[in-house]
Amino acid sequence: MCGIVGYVGDRLGVPIALKCLSALEYRGYDSAGVAYIDNGKIYTEKRVGKLVNLYNSLKNKIIPSSCAIGHTRWATHGEPNKNNAHPQTDCNGILAVVHNGIIENFDSIKQDLIAKGVKFNSDTDTEVFAQLLAYNLCAKLMHNTMHNTAHNTIKFSKKTIIKALNKTIQQCEGAYAVAIVVAGIDDCIFFAKNKSPLIIGKGEEESYLASDTPALLGFANKFYSIKDGELGYIEKNKIVVFNDNLENVKIKFQQITIKTEQVMLGEFKHFMHKEIEQGASSIIETIDRIKKLKVLQKIPPKIFEDKFNLHITACGTALHAGLIAKYIIENQLRVPVDLDYASEFRYKKPILDAHSVCLFISQSGETADTLSCVELAKQKGATTIAFTNVPASRMESIVDFVVPTGAGPEIAVASTKAYLAQLAALYAFIEYLAIILKKEIKFNCGMIKNLALKYSHQDYTKVLDDIVEEIKNEESIYFIGRGVDYLLALEGALKLKEISYIHCEALPAGELKHGSLALINNNSFVVAVLTQSNLIEKTLNNIHELNSRGAKVILISPFTNLENFVYKQIYIPNVNDLLTPFVAMKPLQTLAYKVSISKNLDPDKPRNLAKSVTVE
Ligand code: AGP
Ligand code: GLU
Repeated sequence: MCGIVGYVGDRLGVPIALKCLSALEYRGYDSAGVAYIDNGKIYTEKRVGKLVNLYNSLKNKIIPSSCAIGHTRWATHGEPNKNNAHPQTDCNGILAVVHNGIIENFDSIKQDLIAKGVKFNSDTDTEVFAQLLAYNLCAKLMHNTMHNTAHNTIKFSKKTIIKALNKTIQQCEGAYAVAIVVAGIDDCIFFAKNKSPLIIGKGEEESYLASDTPALLGFANKFYSIKDGELGYIEKNKIVVFNDNLENVKIKFQQITIKTEQVMLGEFKHFMHKEIEQGASSIIETIDRIKKLKVLQKIPPKIFEDKFNLHITACGTALHAGLIAKYIIENQLRVPVDLDYASEFRYKKPILDAHSVCLFISQSGETADTLSCVELAKQKGATTIAFTNVPASRMESIVDFVVPTGAGPEIAVASTKAYLAQLAALYAFIEYLAIILKKEIKFNCGMIKNLALKYSHQDYTKVLDDIVEEIKNEESIYFIGRGVDYLLALEGALKLKEISYIHCEALPAGELKHGSLALINNNSFVVAVLTQSNLIEKTLNNIHELNSRGAKVILISPFTNLENFVYKQIYIPNVNDLLTPFVAMKPLQTLAYKVSISKNLDPDKPRNLAKSVTVE
């Protein structure tokens, strides 16, 4: 996904747009750009790579414009080069667009416009939006007028632009959050939104557009979350929002709840390190918030009566949290749980009906794959419950019930504290479900909170140092475990692979001998997770199999008398088998972080990735 911003007011717009963009870089960093209006004309500045490249090229320039839009890109259509960087303009320089989303029917629109003589400059779907809007705006005017417009001899009325914008969004299929500046108009920025996030921020004598609230910190203290299908424009002292029938929408601002320090590094060098250290407080804050707001009690017990069926879907780390929940629900409540990756769930024709209860887990609440599953579940009459971490997300606005996690803003692309917060929320849900189903379970939220408090300062940075040096240049690293330990191994493998670029795969320990053992030689490193007291012997057998092939096993386990069988043991606290995920993940997260920085990589912004994937 991308980050988009807009500023209109009395101050210099480009420096403010750049500052706002810096809080959105987690959304993508393939390229960055700004467009601004100066003396009625549109100017753009774009650079490939991270925002700092654009910032350095502009920091010594005074750009006399108070109307600017900005973009940080995660490329979906067109490689990350300067030509494909946003803002994208039309061929006559009438307007400039920054976009988050995918225009799915971009190619058919592009071919149609080319046939009408429109010249394209980039490979992006976003340029198609810009060209189509310009075409719709000037359709009734002669070609030379389009040229005149670009040189601000003609000014379109805001009403004309809104009508052309509405026509354009009706012609486009897919997801978009767009901010648009138009030549000749230097006191307002136009916007439209469908499926991708976009908010309006209101400051003193100035207004903002942004993909997410962190961008507004220090500039605005209230925001409006634009709804799907809405469009309009912002002026420094006026906000105009229309629905898709072009009827005025009365908006209600929300207060921005996050604090500036929550999105600052503080004494840490990377957000990922800061967020690993916030894991325990995220667990505690999540449980406290759920209990205090009584969010679970808002879920009516009657949906769990008779023949209810339970489904979990999510992506990436969120799905790994869901896997743990599935394991615990089936183990403790003996209720079957259908679970799948969101990108698979939707296409497998899931068996959903009015008795279905669907749990959706998403840190951002904006992941397109998971959002599509929410839409499908609602169409089938299922009850939808979202476990989300970002307030006012799209997922929060479309589900029946929300169970908020209390991790606070998670900036690093690799999810750490949010995973633990998701577990805390899911365990709280399971505790609530046990009460409804009148079943005994072997844990409660108080136990989880106590664990988090007791082990909040566990520090693995030193004990991992020698291992990090040994594995940092490996091509492949394997993770194994049984039961819950296999599910933890999946998350450990994802963490390491996504920020160190080492191929990592997790295997059920018992599965090794059914093929993957062929990959093991006397240079192989294998991380074994062993926290389940009833699986010690079985997992130890698999460790012996590995040892006999010369592999070097790194054991993550609380159990003693094992270290003679492994290359290195990282000891973790010995806790209730059902609660080990709350203490076993920190060494795996820390290992990933340390390997990444030992390779001089950026653990917060790994290549090719983005914090939340708002495109399918
Ligand atoms: C995890 O470290 C990754 N950043 C990624 O797998 C992430 O968990 C996934 O994209 C889901 O994001 P969400 O929780 O915001 O829906
Ligand atoms: N589809 C647009 C592009 O490729 C925006 C991508 C996004 O939102 O991630 O530039």
